[in-house]
Amino acid sequence: AKDGYEHFMLKEIHEEPRVVRETMFSYVQDDIDQLVASLPDLSKYQQIHIVSCGSAMYAGMIAKSLIESAARVRVDVEIASEYRYKDPIYDVNTLVLVVSQSGETADSLAALLLAKQQGVDTMAIVNVVGSSIAREAKYVAYTHAGVEIAVATTKAYCTQVALLSLVALNLTYVHGKVSKAQANEIIKEIQQLPDMLQHMIDDVQYVKAAKIISRHNNVFFIGRGLDYALCMEGSLKLKEISYIHSEAYAAGELKHGTISLIEKGTPVVAICTEERLYEKTISNIKEVKARGANVILVVREDLQVAQDYYDYKISIPKVNRLIQGIVGVVPLQLLSYQVANLRGCEIDQPRNLAKSVTVE
Ligand code: M6R
Repeated sequence: AKDGYEHFMLKEIHEEPRVVRETMFSYVQDDIDQLVASLPDLSKYQQIHIVSCGSAMYAGMIAKSLIESAARVRVDVEIASEYRYKDPIYDVNTLVLVVSQSGETADSLAALLLAKQQGVDTMAIVNVVGSSIAREAKYVAYTHAGVEIAVATTKAYCTQVALLSLVALNLTYVHGKVSKAQANEIIKEIQQLPDMLQHMIDDVQYVKAAKIISRHNNVFFIGRGLDYALCMEGSLKLKEISYIHSEAYAAGELKHGTISLIEKGTPVVAICTEERLYEKTISNIKEVKARGANVILVVREDLQVAQDYYDYKISIPKVNRLIQGIVGVVPLQLLSYQVANLRGCEIDQPRNLAKSVTVE
């Protein structure tokens, strides 16, 4: 049942505060030692291959950004349909981490079996208990998103990002890059997350920004670092349910060709949560603005951006970078939802798509 919501997608977005809490609190409540005890021992791995498809792969891109900078462990993120047909290089102690909501995605399962056959340790982050990927992996860590009905993933993706953020925190701690006290401070922030998500879902108005997007057939998402990974998911969500063509671009790469597609009115969703990089992104925003783009800025609340550089602004709370991805995704999902709704799309079951892709 949709519990009074017009679509399952909207209902599932509203479940995010609860399922993020259930997922994160099942691994850690108030002390980093609980997290270390509830995940497999990750201290020996020098390299991680995150292999998955679609949104699960974009969750992996967020994890790469976090793990590499905080834990200093090398991470490669690969599309499962590519990985399964190449000869992966395992030159140091490697963990192959497969992320999947359904646990039945054929390409992700094949990639997992390939790694197993090579004698490499495997771990699965899966939502469906007892699914094929969960059964085949050496270690399993479950997300607790519950049953997801809308074809386009929202709450399951959100819990993937949440659990991967915990994996990143765990790695950072066991590789000695953060003290126990610092780790426990981050865990305190995690306790605030469900309320922050709830606030963003309840209080932020997305309709105006959605109107800007809904009138166009070509949209860009730009950002750097973690924000680039968020762009990938934001863009996919929009394409899936609204049928608007959209492209996610690393903000600094636009000028190498793609900027030729920006014309008067083209909507550009610019994401700025990376403190270290936001001024760089602002200068890319200036470049698209100068060519007539309609800029929707999704920005961490404490980062100052002059009003001339955007047409519409969505603020998101500032949290520790290790958990910033979890709050960043909510406005993107709601924005896509509103756009698709304005265009009268069949939101829960977009054309040509299946919930779980069990064929090659
Ligand atoms: O069940 P999985 O997480 O393995 O599915 C992976 C992708 O097929 C899935 O995320 C797909 O991209 C969704 N349609 C995204 O909304």
